[in-house]
Amino acid sequence: MILKNQEDADKSMTFTFQVINETVRLANIVPGIFRKALRDIQFKGYTIPAGWAVMVCPPAVHLNPAKYEYPLSFNPWRWEGVELNGATNHFIAFGGGLMFCVGTEFTRVQMAVFLHCLVTKYRWNAIGEGNIVRTRGLQFPDSFYVQMKVKD
Ligand code: HEM
Repeated sequence: MILKNQEDADKSMTFTFQVINETVRLANIVPGIFRKALRDIQFKGYTIPAGWAVMVCPPAVHLNPAKYEYPLSFNPWRWEGVELNGATNHFIAFGGGLMFCVGTEFTRVQMAVFLHCLVTKYRWNAIGEGNIVRTRGLQFPDSFYVQMKVKD
């Protein structure tokens, strides 16, 4: 991870939060969010009958090439200047609406603390090339090995 500048890292941690946004965009732990249609819904020429369950798939939303250029690339800079206060039509890592995740800010802080410790205290190298599979989530079927060393 390349920190843009020291002031950034020390104070607002702007870039760290861009890294976090990009991480939950690409490696979301939630394969689906479920809702129930309370009445017949017309959607793009289809009718979703009342009572049917609808599954929204955040990873599909997050890989939309119309919204995210090179959607499979890990690019924290795409979040530069973007203020995320909750969900948008194109970012639903923590859900949205009435059931929006209550753990969002806690999660962001946890990830920021983890990243801070990782970057400031350790060096690491990926060993070999793990097979990355993107189904509805992110999987490493053959494992993925990383060598960690405490910084001098
Ligand atoms: C990376 C971490 C996390 C992700 C990606 C995540 C994602 C989500 C999503 C997508 C929903 C919406 C579910 C829906 O609409 O049906 C949700 C709801 C919820 N999350 Fe999280 N979550 C995370 C961490 C946490 C943590 C750390 C907590 C608690 C400390 C938490 C507590 C909750 C609760 C209680 C709800 C239900 C809110 C409601 O129904 O009003 N989450 N989460």
